[in-house]
Amino acid sequence: MEFILFVLTHRMNNRDRWRVYKRVSLMFLLALLALTVVQRGSINMGAPFELERQARMHPPADYDDKQENGIKAFWKSSKPSTSESPTITHDNRPTTWDVTSTNCTANHNLSEQDWFMGLEANFKQFLLYRHCRYFPMILNHPEKCSGDIYLLIVIKSVATEHDRREVIRKTWGKEQVVDGKRIKTLFLLGKSSNEVERANHQKLLEYEDYIYGDILQWDFLDSFFNLTLKETHFLKWFHTYCPNVRYVFKGDDDVFVSVHNIFEYLEMSSKVKDMFVGDVIFKAKPIRKKENKYYIPHALYNKTFYPPYAGGGGFLMDGPLVKRLHVAADTLNLYPIDDVFLGMCLEVLKVTPIKHNAFKTFGLVKNKASKLNREPCLFKSMIVVHKLLPTDLIRMWNLVNSDLVCSKKAQIL
Ligand SMILES: *[C@@H]1O[C@H](CO)[C@@H](O)[C@H](O)[C@H]1NC(C)=O
Ligand SMILES: *[C@@H]1O[C@H](CO)[C@@H](O)[C@H](O)[C@H]1NC(C)=O
Ligand SMILES: *[C@@H]1O[C@H](CO)[C@@H](O)[C@H](O)[C@H]1NC(C)=O
Ligand SMILES: *[C@@H]1O[C@H](CO)[C@@H](O)[C@H](O)[C@H]1NC(C)=O
Repeated sequence: MEFILFVLTHRMNNRDRWRVYKRVSLMFLLALLALTVVQRGSINMGAPFELERQARMHPPADYDDKQENGIKAFWKSSKPSTSESPTITHDNRPTTWDVTSTNCTANHNLSEQDWFMGLEANFKQFLLYRHCRYFPMILNHPEKCSGDIYLLIVIKSVATEHDRREVIRKTWGKEQVVDGKRIKTLFLLGKSSNEVERANHQKLLEYEDYIYGDILQWDFLDSFFNLTLKETHFLKWFHTYCPNVRYVFKGDDDVFVSVHNIFEYLEMSSKVKDMFVGDVIFKAKPIRKKENKYYIPHALYNKTFYPPYAGGGGFLMDGPLVKRLHVAADTLNLYPIDDVFLGMCLEVLKVTPIKHNAFKTFGLVKNKASKLNREPCLFKSMIVVHKLLPTDLIRMWNLVNSDLVCSKKAQIL
């Protein structure tokens, strides 16, 4: 705790005031941490304190510069320096995030059009701002992709889901070297769309990032329709900073993943060019029922079928393809469903995604009550399973990685 308190009180010289301040700060911080715990309901009380202990035991390797400047640097650096002018390399790739101001006004051209007037409020909101393609970064890690990386794991998350990130870092998302191959992990976030949350969670998020150095955050609201922005921002970020990443796994923060099986799969398919594999749906029809979460009005999409696309819960692609996907994405209008949008980008590139049975992003078996959904031997043979909350994830992880004896390994891989 002294660590945090020191940060909060480092400007105070008077010892008495310091003591009072210490107490107040401690209570304030505990209240904030308790708030996240209570809001999440089921998370283990240990997590936030665990977080602090790890800060002392493992100073993040990437943060040498900040350590030199002392603790103050954490607060100073909470706003990334965006003053460097973007330099252009031979392949016209900017080498820094080149979007430094948000200047996005609603497109009122639409307001006069009848088809627009008839839309639901959320689609109006989406269309009014659809032309705003890129936003500045709040938290960045340009150093993340330095050197050769075999597998970059990127996970969509939101500020309040701290416990999910914590569990992923301890289980399948752990940064490590396996057989000489480096694995790195990043979380992709926007801003909380709720103002109270934004005020309470932003500093915690920055502290979390200071400890782990694995959060990318952009200056757009985290909302369902803005998930496509998260997709395009990651593609651009990757294109900018990651020249030497072999493969990317992208997924949700509530899935179970077997990195061991990913490695096995990648070794078998090392010759495949333009690899994109996941729980692919062919000939999906846009949903026209208004009550459905994925409802799409004809005004937004008027074809009978979507292009083939992989469920956003988790999929694998190769690094060079990710860079081409960025270029393709820039030629398309944004579409409110992120995984369908990526399918549209693949269509532009004439790349057909591969369907693989070890990716279960729509659940393991259809019957949600089935015991199979909790069968560790089944999990052991999978690459991604949707969806597990933190406590279940930890339990399943421990089971799958114990001396589990499975009568026969499901022949899926
Ligand atoms: C933002 O856009 C408006 C209108 O398009 C323009 O007048 C203004 O100068 C812009 N501001 C910045 C900071 O670019
Ligand atoms: C609105 O319409 C004008 C004139 O047609 C066009 O120049 C402008 O780009 C449009 N604005 C947006 C945000 O699309
Ligand atoms: C997406 O984020 C932008 C920037 O914060 C915001 O203006 C817009 O309303 C958001 N869109 C939706 C559909 O939530
Ligand atoms: C479908 O939408 C496209 C682009 O939005 C438009 O050009 C085309 O005319 C539409 N087709 C029908 C049958 O409405």
